[in-house]
Amino acid sequence: MPSVEGVGARRAALQMLDSVLRRGHTLEAAAGAVHNLSPSDHGLAVAIAGEALRRLPDLDAMIDSATRNPLPGDSKARMVLRLALAQKIGLGTPDHALVATALPLVDGGPRRLVHGVLGTLLRRGLAVSDAPTLPPEVEDRWRAAWGEEVVQAARRQIARRPPLDLTFKDDAEAKAYASAHEGSSLALNHVRLRSSSVSELPGFGDGRWWVQDLAASLPARLIPPAAEHVLDLCAAPGGKTMQLAAAGHRATAVDASGSRLARLRENLDRTHLEAALVEADALAWSPDEQCDAILLDAPCSATGTFRRHPEVLYRARPRLVAEATELQRKLLDRASDWLEPDGVLVYSVCSLEPQEGEEILSAFLGRHPNFRLDAPKDLPAWLPVASEGWVRVLPGLLEGEGGLDGFFMARLVRTR
Ligand SMILES: C[S@@+](CC[C@H](N)C(=O)[O-])C[C@H]1O[C@@H](n2cnc3c(N)ncnc32)[C@H](O)[C@@H]1O
Repeated sequence: MPSVEGVGARRAALQMLDSVLRRGHTLEAAAGAVHNLSPSDHGLAVAIAGEALRRLPDLDAMIDSATRNPLPGDSKARMVLRLALAQKIGLGTPDHALVATALPLVDGGPRRLVHGVLGTLLRRGLAVSDAPTLPPEVEDRWRAAWGEEVVQAARRQIARRPPLDLTFKDDAEAKAYASAHEGSSLALNHVRLRSSSVSELPGFGDGRWWVQDLAASLPARLIPPAAEHVLDLCAAPGGKTMQLAAAGHRATAVDASGSRLARLRENLDRTHLEAALVEADALAWSPDEQCDAILLDAPCSATGTFRRHPEVLYRARPRLVAEATELQRKLLDRASDWLEPDGVLVYSVCSLEPQEGEEILSAFLGRHPNFRLDAPKDLPAWLPVASEGWVRVLPGLLEGEGGLDGFFMARLVRTR
């Protein structure tokens, strides 16, 4: 068969989807492993794979409705069909183009099968939901933890492109920028835009702001303004370090990953902000002096970021969550030794799993009677503070304004 234009991007999307679903890679890592494509084809491949991941259970239900016997879950024919249907739904690719670029990806019997199933579904017309189903195990877990309304909100959110949130060094600049660019401001130093290409936005080059989901900007706001030296543990790529430095704290940023710290360095250089950087495993390292405050933005399953990274819903298997909670527990215990009395420890995770938030915090308080929860009173009024004193951000919050990532955060004070 002569080569068809656009097949390279679809082949790359197939490789990415396979690497995410069968090998558990992030889409970013899977995309990074694909070379020899033009930037536009590379971007197209990522968009196709991402769209398939947003709607996978619904796409599979469509495929199953058009086959006599269900195709195996990880068969190439199913993968190719998922990608073709995702293009139709998410990117509006014309029927002839999606058929022409799907068929060269499979041979023989599977090719005839893909051709037949696509033909049936396209003739029938695809019912496109604006609230696609999440993986059943995720829905069951979140329904048990947060209730049906949250599951429905998460379904609606995964179908939409999240807005672009910027954090500014200076609040007056943020407010002026919001009004000049038809944006809104939902917290101090914050601007929300209805999305655009980041590097083309005015002010990127001169470092007045950085991109940071509104939820991700909340934990650093829990650090008391009076804290002089703040340890930012698990800091890279540095959204929170930049907030701390911009707020006038002396920040020490610790991260185990050299490549991620290099990005933190670039971010600080671009924004003309300063922090001390330490490349170290926080479980093996100790600071030279006790600190006034510590921000621990711990590694986690990241299921709260499902709007931009839908693959987290497939990666966050019970084993990954269990490994993450073990690391969170150790990091919290270690950091708790480094605070002055009256020092503040802020713990956060971009996870929607209670094991990584509420449960880890309750267990920490049980082990450390010299710490108490300090409910924040200085946050935006729309942010709910739980009766226990911690903050849980769930899908559905600020939905009319475009929503925000799922997060958990708590402020603890060392009493002695
Ligand atoms: C959730 S991300 C941090 C995001 C960052 N706080 C921000 O706002 O940009 C978690 C980070 O923890 C780092 N990390 C994981 N295990 C670590 C350890 N044992 N010691 C130090 N850093 C670690 C990872 O390299 C990763 O950069």
